[in-house]
Amino acid sequence: MTELPKNFLWGGAVAAHQVEGAYNVGGKGLSVADVMTAAGSHDERRITDGVQEGEFYPNHEAVDFYHQFPEDVKLFAEMGFKSFRTSIAWSRIFPQGDETEPNEEGLAFYDRLFDECLKYNIEPVVTLSHFEMPYHLVTEYGGFRSRKTITFFTRFAEAVFNRYKDKVKYWLTFNEINNQSNYNREFTLFTNSGIQVKPGENAEAVMYQAGHYEVVASARAVQIGHKINPDFQIGAMVAFSPVYPATDKPADVLKAQRAMQARFWFSDVQVEGEYPSWLTRYQKAKQFNLDITPEDLAELKKGTVDYLGFSYYMSFATAASDHEDKYYSYNESEDLVTNTYVPRSDWGWQVDPEGLRYGLNWMNDRYHVPVFIVENGIGAIDKLEADHQVHDQYRIKYLRDHIEQMKLAIVEDGVDVMGYTPWSAIDIVSASTGQLSKRYGFIYVDRNDDGSGSLARYRKDSFYWYQHVIETNGDDLSESGAKHA
Ligand code: BG6
Repeated sequence: MTELPKNFLWGGAVAAHQVEGAYNVGGKGLSVADVMTAAGSHDERRITDGVQEGEFYPNHEAVDFYHQFPEDVKLFAEMGFKSFRTSIAWSRIFPQGDETEPNEEGLAFYDRLFDECLKYNIEPVVTLSHFEMPYHLVTEYGGFRSRKTITFFTRFAEAVFNRYKDKVKYWLTFNEINNQSNYNREFTLFTNSGIQVKPGENAEAVMYQAGHYEVVASARAVQIGHKINPDFQIGAMVAFSPVYPATDKPADVLKAQRAMQARFWFSDVQVEGEYPSWLTRYQKAKQFNLDITPEDLAELKKGTVDYLGFSYYMSFATAASDHEDKYYSYNESEDLVTNTYVPRSDWGWQVDPEGLRYGLNWMNDRYHVPVFIVENGIGAIDKLEADHQVHDQYRIKYLRDHIEQMKLAIVEDGVDVMGYTPWSAIDIVSASTGQLSKRYGFIYVDRNDDGSGSLARYRKDSFYWYQHVIETNGDDLSESGAKHA
């Protein structure tokens, strides 16, 4: 008996800047991803002032998907993908971000990519902004510090909605819009919003202002998209790392509740169309002085999303300190504790498959819209053997354990899950570290952290395993059915 819906969107995910390369080809402008260097396993990437000579920027070439996509999409089809999630590099379409006319060469590239997917009946699932705002918007306008950036974003959205209205049905507005709730981490505010906090500034207030402009931009884009094609399914996208209380001490439970509220106010607004009551009061009490107008609030109501997309990699835990204020204010850079019940990946991410079932139920209870798991995976060091095989059992185990929990949520709990696009379809440049060696893909790409390598593609063991999972619509998660070439 098939347990999952017949039209379940099995697939895989990537983002433009992490695979395409060709950073200055076809009229593309610089994006925020183009000014970030590579880091090691446990440090952060540096953001440079424009592109500097002598620095290495791994996204400039990435894995050359821009030129090699026909072969890559063919491999996705061989795995049986029903969907493929990628993003449109905003700076291919509007190189500076503030032009009024789009760049035809950029538009033509995504025509070719989507046509290639559709040739194999692979449904594109497209994120509008996945950590790749045009860099010019950062230097000229301060990214989403400026209300003007709402207009630049919606102009971009309108251009691509119009162009691909008959090719793309599933859209997502901002990737992991809630990453920046960790407002003290330089990486998150820069990649989400194109913002670097200045000395003496209140980073939390800066985040709430930028986040507000983004939810307004998202709501406006949803309305524009639905006018262009009423069949569009336009979703929000959050990073779902649930925050558990470290103990059953009531203060820990309250702290964890506030952490969840602080991480998920974005989707509260995008799905429900209004700010949660705690946040309106909190922003006032903290005197953030935000530019939030009655017209904005009306717009939020009109532009609610059709579904909620989310990534799931890990869970977090938090504990109250002895001197909590009455808000249990949450500062993610300081307030997380280790969960001793779950193992960690080589990069220290807490691996917790049951957290996925928990999350699916949590979202279902809270939002009552379909959900889409648009990222899930494990970054690991892979070894390419002399015969070009990659035995990535750890990846198969990670994905199997998570798919099992997803099935329980769908079949036993009745959660409406549209599809599953693990991260990543093919090896990518890691967003947070810029490493190639933090591999996620089903397809190995011969490229190293320093940019050397032939860029040749090889199928990993997980490729054959996932092919069999899709073939059986998730019924058989064992490895015995998988057919190696
Ligand atoms: C999500 C992003 O944060 O997680 C992806 O949407 C990213 O862009 C993925 O690659 C894994 O994170 P990282 O930092 O290991 O690449």
